[in-house]
Amino acid sequence: MAVIAVAGLAKHYGRRRQTAALRGVDLTLEDGAVLGLLGPNGAGKTTLIKILAGLLRPDAGGGRVLGFDLLRGAREIRAAVSLVAPTADVGLDNNLTVRQNLVFWAPIYGLYGARARQRIDSLLARLSLEGKADAWPMHISAGQRQRLALARSLLAENRLLFLDEPTNKLDAEGVRSVRSLIAELNQQQGTTVVLTTHVMEEAQELCSEVALLHRGAVVRHAEVGALLRSLEEVRPIQLEIAARGRPIAVPPAGALPQAVRIQVQTGEGGAVSVTIWSRDVPATTPAVVDWIRGAQLPVRKMTSQRLTLDDVFALVHTSPPEVGP
Ligand SMILES: Nc1ncnc2c1ncn2[C@@H]1O[C@H](COP(=O)(O)OP(=O)(O)O)[C@@H](O)[C@H]1O
Ligand SMILES: [Mg+2]
Repeated sequence: MAVIAVAGLAKHYGRRRQTAALRGVDLTLEDGAVLGLLGPNGAGKTTLIKILAGLLRPDAGGGRVLGFDLLRGAREIRAAVSLVAPTADVGLDNNLTVRQNLVFWAPIYGLYGARARQRIDSLLARLSLEGKADAWPMHISAGQRQRLALARSLLAENRLLFLDEPTNKLDAEGVRSVRSLIAELNQQQGTTVVLTTHVMEEAQELCSEVALLHRGAVVRHAEVGALLRSLEEVRPIQLEIAARGRPIAVPPAGALPQAVRIQVQTGEGGAVSVTIWSRDVPATTPAVVDWIRGAQLPVRKMTSQRLTLDDVFALVHTSPPEVGP
């Protein structure tokens, strides 16, 4: 069953609606999936999550979340989903201890007595907060406050969970406990999860599928393994050239074996950096070296590294469709 089925979602901000945050997003998500929303700052991830959680009304488009209509059933959607925003820790009560904060919220989420106590103990343990149970929220770290806010939302035991940058403020231990809790909720309770992240490795570890957002549009939605397999084969060869204002004639990508795309950027002091995206770096390199020799280019540096998330965006957003699934 599709837990999320929306189409054409658009959202503009500003008095004259001058800022387009979403420009026609279609998204379908099946029950039990863990979807990673990836994208640079400002891509529209938070806006999309708020709309899907019934907190923000789209200007255009619509659909269903957990079977409720996105426009007419926003109140039902809000009651049926959990959302943890990056600022969720602002809502903690500083006059209650860590445990008391959870005890206060439990009945609001329909948890009472022994069941509430068990759930609270288990969340404190799984989020590595047992040692802080009797501390005041202002005396624990930002990462611990963030985990407490997550624990509070998880009291609700909802089937659909939205996590906006769940590991952003956390140290290594916090990241580990939050990631393992997300995996556990999904595997043991069947919770469907939508999370945003900047970290490719996090998406790889947690997500069954990823959607790449760029300037308010989903530019790719794929199973995470398929996306990575298709992109991992493409690697950048980077050249730094001391051009000193001289123009550089770059060959077309088709002229270099296995090259997919060539990108040229001019930096400070007339330096030029050229990125050649290749499906097979050893096959492309000799042709690159021939080009450098032939054109007598003053190359200062030539490197080839693994793809970063930024590279993935550069590729996915602008490359021809033969790259990737
Ligand atoms: N409340 C708001 N008022 C005006 N502009 C906003 C508001 N919220 C977000 N934006 C703008 O909308 C775009 C998308 O923002 P957002 O959804 O927060 O992206 P992300 O979460 O991917 O960083 C950005 O250009 C951002 O500046
Ligand atoms: Mg955001």
